[in-house]
Amino acid sequence: MKRVAVTQRIFPELIEELARRYTLVDNQADHGLGAAELAARLRDCDAALITAGEQVDDALLAACPRLQVVSNIAVGYNNLDLAACTRHGVAATNTPDVLNEATADHAWALLLAAARRVTESDRFVRAGRWQRWEFEMLMGAELHGSTLGIVGMGRIGRAIARRARGFGMRVVYHNRSRLPAVQEDGAIWMATEEVLRSADHVVLVVPYTQATHHLIGAAQLALLKPTAVLVNIARGGVVDDAALIEALQQGRLAAAGLDVFENEPRLDPRFLTLDNVVLTPHIASSTRATRRAMARLAIDNLADVLAGKRPSALLNPDVWDCRRR
Ligand code: GLV
Repeated sequence: MKRVAVTQRIFPELIEELARRYTLVDNQADHGLGAAELAARLRDCDAALITAGEQVDDALLAACPRLQVVSNIAVGYNNLDLAACTRHGVAATNTPDVLNEATADHAWALLLAAARRVTESDRFVRAGRWQRWEFEMLMGAELHGSTLGIVGMGRIGRAIARRARGFGMRVVYHNRSRLPAVQEDGAIWMATEEVLRSADHVVLVVPYTQATHHLIGAAQLALLKPTAVLVNIARGGVVDDAALIEALQQGRLAAAGLDVFENEPRLDPRFLTLDNVVLTPHIASSTRATRRAMARLAIDNLADVLAGKRPSALLNPDVWDCRRR
């Protein structure tokens, strides 16, 4: 039987299914594995089901000569060195589409929470500070009728834009290439700087690459309106966290809603001291239904490769004809 490693705890029934088809290699880790642990776990495996917390690079692939496929249970794949995967003949896959709606919902949860000061209000009530009702208490930003800026108008960005219609918001966006009108659905394409300048609130949904590293730094934050909310559900590193903290401290934007951070989970402790930031621990796709669909797709991708069938979400198609078998 083929040997399959699973690096995170996932649904027990899916583990049972895998165990019926393959020899499973210790699958009960409930934390991201470091390089040495990961190499030890994958050394004799034919396939690996991993999450965005694990790094797949040249050294790992060289240490795992049997490995045919790394199946990432995530849509983002900046943890995978795709060129190295292709060089080593290893297929790499991800989980697109199945998480679009849940992730878009979470972007809205952060936008609403930050704009309407939900977590700050919660802390206020819990601290026993609500002594009397005051007319000007915890005033937030109006979303209805305002302009939402979306940087990264892929499938998740478009799901976020669809929800904006229900809030009566105008949508402006930036994407490397302008979308066809049917996908724009009334949204207006602009350069990133223009989006930052003209939107009332901005959501970041770009993949993390060298080109998007610190896409939002001090200079870009300075373009935002002082009343703006910035939401990042993309990846840590797309925003320069130190610059964002400074901007939030100085009131150069109203608030931020953040699901991802540089060096997560060890985020900059200054975030914890700020009232105008809503923090979630990289859970944008974390609903039961969506996590199940992601795991299901990742298992199907892995099983396809092991069965010699091209998987639907192959990230490095060049590998196919020269893959390890
Ligand atoms: C989560 O961050 C993902 O990329 O799926």
